[in-house]
Amino acid sequence: MQKARIGVTGLAVMGRNLARNLARHGHAVAVHNRTQSRTKALVEQFGDEGTFLPADTPEQFVASLERPRRLVVMVKAGAPTDAVIEEFAPLLEPGDMIVDGGNANFLDTRRREAALRERGLHFVGTGISGGEEGALHGPSIMPGGSAESYAALGPLLEDISAKVDGTPCCTHVGPDGAGHFVKMVHNGIEYADMQLIAESYDLLRHAAGLAPAEIAEVFRTWNAGRLDSYLIEITAEVLAHTDAATGRPFVDVVLDQAEQKGTGRWTVQTALDLGVPVGGIAEAVFARSVSGHAALREAARGLPGPSRTGAAGAGFADAVERALYASKIVAYAQGFHEIQAGSAEYGWDIDLAAMATIWRGGCIIRAEFLDRIRAAYEADPHTPTLLTDDHFAAAAGDAQDAWRDVVATAARLGIPAPGFSTALAYYDSLRADRLPAALTQGQRDFFGAHTYRRVDREGSFHTLWGGDRTEVTS
Ligand code: 6PG
Repeated sequence: MQKARIGVTGLAVMGRNLARNLARHGHAVAVHNRTQSRTKALVEQFGDEGTFLPADTPEQFVASLERPRRLVVMVKAGAPTDAVIEEFAPLLEPGDMIVDGGNANFLDTRRREAALRERGLHFVGTGISGGEEGALHGPSIMPGGSAESYAALGPLLEDISAKVDGTPCCTHVGPDGAGHFVKMVHNGIEYADMQLIAESYDLLRHAAGLAPAEIAEVFRTWNAGRLDSYLIEITAEVLAHTDAATGRPFVDVVLDQAEQKGTGRWTVQTALDLGVPVGGIAEAVFARSVSGHAALREAARGLPGPSRTGAAGAGFADAVERALYASKIVAYAQGFHEIQAGSAEYGWDIDLAAMATIWRGGCIIRAEFLDRIRAAYEADPHTPTLLTDDHFAAAAGDAQDAWRDVVATAARLGIPAPGFSTALAYYDSLRADRLPAALTQGQRDFFGAHTYRRVDREGSFHTLWGGDRTEVTS
């Protein structure tokens, strides 16, 4: 009986496309789905693309895999993943691998990896980005788990991943939950990038009075320059689209309440735990949250403020481009800082340049820009922030007037620009000689004797605020 090199269980669109991608690359792939009709439909529709070994039962599926078995699980993150693991793990033998390709929380991945390791099995939490199209034509793949499992899986995953300059957009991220952690931060950055793009659109629309179709042209122009990226490209497409039913710009008939499935929120929650400032990502999550509070917005709609309309001149689009590029650098710097901190906390030893390399293609944030980040981390793998890299520092320097003008214009006209504002505030906080945190420390010491350190001497001090205000060493 012919054995499959790899198997995919869970044949919704992502699982199906991943299985087809594997088959198209010449790998015999076992396919299984709880509802058998899906398995049948896949083989009927796409059977001629390669070798599919359909299985009706978990037992049949496992038996059709060559050893060590590589079993890819493509089901909804959360309880369904645990259910599938419980169903398959008893059928597997030591050395076999379960690959979770969903958007799992990395803490769940750590728990599952530890539990399966006890049973002699490899659990490989794997971030996969690129949506349906990516899964079929080449996603960016972020596998965690053991180095041993990567030795057996890596070549297959690299084979089906996107390639940039011949380099696969797939590498071993690090042990246990490292892959899902990096995918989570990828999504957090995705949120921040989308928010900055949305604010750019809003500013061009209201401060410069451009129509959606005109703004689409602006984005097309930007896409030919340093902002060249998938997200800018699809923004132009969406803005140029006309609603067939009403003839109005598509963007005007979509309810302005952004939804989210959780990875952006996790990025921020995790950053809070790690003590990493990721304001750009946080504001993006909060902006979606604000948009969804319909009753709150309705109640506040008549509050006083400017009318959001302006007559920004010809150079405004160029200023927004500069502000967008500078703010984008900040958002990515914050995301990479979070990866650096997570890697240190969990002992993953993640190679940041390699992460930028595998995000250059296949994933939602794929962009020319990522190659710059790769170069920055290759030049200095331990740089505390991307902002001090020569290229990025020069770009931020060049953007100064524009960035400040855009944030000021937004504030003056009453156009919410939380992404641009927080990015600039972060930049100014980092470059400041002194921060008002000194005053915060004084207040903490005043009301709670929480102590402070001094600029001129080592040690912890407390001032006797309620007494004669002498200073004591604590
Ligand atoms: C990707 C995407 C993918 C998905 C997000 C969307 O990398 O391919 O990030 O994972 O589209 O989960 O997230 P929201 O539904 O939360 O916007």
